[in-house]
Amino acid sequence: MSGTVHRAADDLRTARALRVDGARLLSRLEELRRIGGTPDGGVNRVAFTPEDVRGRELVASFMVEAGLDVELDAAGNLIGRRTGRRAAAPTLLMGSHLDTVPHGGALDGAYGVIGAVEVLHTLGEHGVVPWRPMAVIAFTNEEGGLGTRPMWGSHALAGHLGPADLLACDDAGTPVSRLLAGVGGDPARLATAVWPPERLSGYLELHVEQGPVLEHVGAAIGVVQAVTGRVTADVTVRGQANHAGTTPMHLRQDALVGAARVVLAVRELAGDGGLVRVATVGRCAVEPNAWNVVPALVRLRVDLRDVSVAAMRAGLERLRAVAAEVAAATGTDIEVTEGGMVQPAACDPFLQRLVAAAAERVGASHHALPSGAGHDAQVVGTVTRMGMIFVPSRGGISHAAAEWTEPWQLVAGADVLLQTALDFDRALG
Ligand code: GLV
Ligand code: MN
Ligand code: MN
Repeated sequence: MSGTVHRAADDLRTARALRVDGARLLSRLEELRRIGGTPDGGVNRVAFTPEDVRGRELVASFMVEAGLDVELDAAGNLIGRRTGRRAAAPTLLMGSHLDTVPHGGALDGAYGVIGAVEVLHTLGEHGVVPWRPMAVIAFTNEEGGLGTRPMWGSHALAGHLGPADLLACDDAGTPVSRLLAGVGGDPARLATAVWPPERLSGYLELHVEQGPVLEHVGAAIGVVQAVTGRVTADVTVRGQANHAGTTPMHLRQDALVGAARVVLAVRELAGDGGLVRVATVGRCAVEPNAWNVVPALVRLRVDLRDVSVAAMRAGLERLRAVAAEVAAATGTDIEVTEGGMVQPAACDPFLQRLVAAAAERVGASHHALPSGAGHDAQVVGTVTRMGMIFVPSRGGISHAAAEWTEPWQLVAGADVLLQTALDFDRALG
């Protein structure tokens, strides 16, 4: 009896002293950065491109080195599994995404996947067998590459996708089903990528903050409280192409002038007295995009974010009303199409407590904050309890080549993920 107690105490001490191999974590991040890497330190690894495929192949090789069972599911999600003492028990999933925005940074997404691989590699090489199975997942297309629906892989896992999502096309008119097959997915078997809630015990995502808060308060670890909601809308402004030299100003139907007014109106949806927390138009395509032709057509994509679904709905309604006013004033036709909402999601309070305790154990200062960026975690959070761990982003910069986190903070974040995962596993038994 006392022998059993002693062994348990020893296990606990061993587990609590366990730390990741920081040098391996950093060198894998650097190796991955070189796939799609740009000379300024940024990364172009947009989903469904050859770089995306090469990035996944490299990470699959890391998973093999870590001793994991590797699988690519029908949604193109790359999964590496380690079994537990209770092999049939629900899995603790950890991960993020490997795709980037065009000309993005080296850490957004990649850090969470490489960090989770490192955690499972560390467990394996120290002979620590968790109670429950643990797995790493690299979700397909978190960023909405090539104009497709973002968070594709996590939506597939949560069972949110149907035939219409496969028929949808990217900006070049290629159906998503073909893009998916190109990265090793299997559109005909998409339903097999769904994880019923009973297969999951929880989801943990390690990520760079992508904002300035942690740096500002001087904390090394962010305990994420909730993830913001987001809704996108496509705005199409139709005017009339005409000669830039001969068409009198008052007779023009200039689609770009209409679009410019919409852009400024979107800005007014946020800020002091606004309806939503932030509002952005980050995409604009002009046709025919010729300097001596009055623009005929403009496509904008609007991104509205808030922690309240009602606020995002109100923002969309106001956008439609403004679009009608601008259309009347500029002689254009403006269509607003909602592109899908990702609900805001609260992080599990128990997981938040475990993250804070793990940060203390590894000697890292911590601070609780909400996430202003969207994450696969908020989608996975619709089917299981989820938690997120942040590390600081220098200057609050992300979705840009200048994205940077101090190496010691990257290592501390992975240690916190390791300790959180072990505590959660022990707590569930
Ligand atoms: C995801 O990267 C987002 O745009 O928040
Ligand atoms: Mn991102
Ligand atoms: Mn991300």
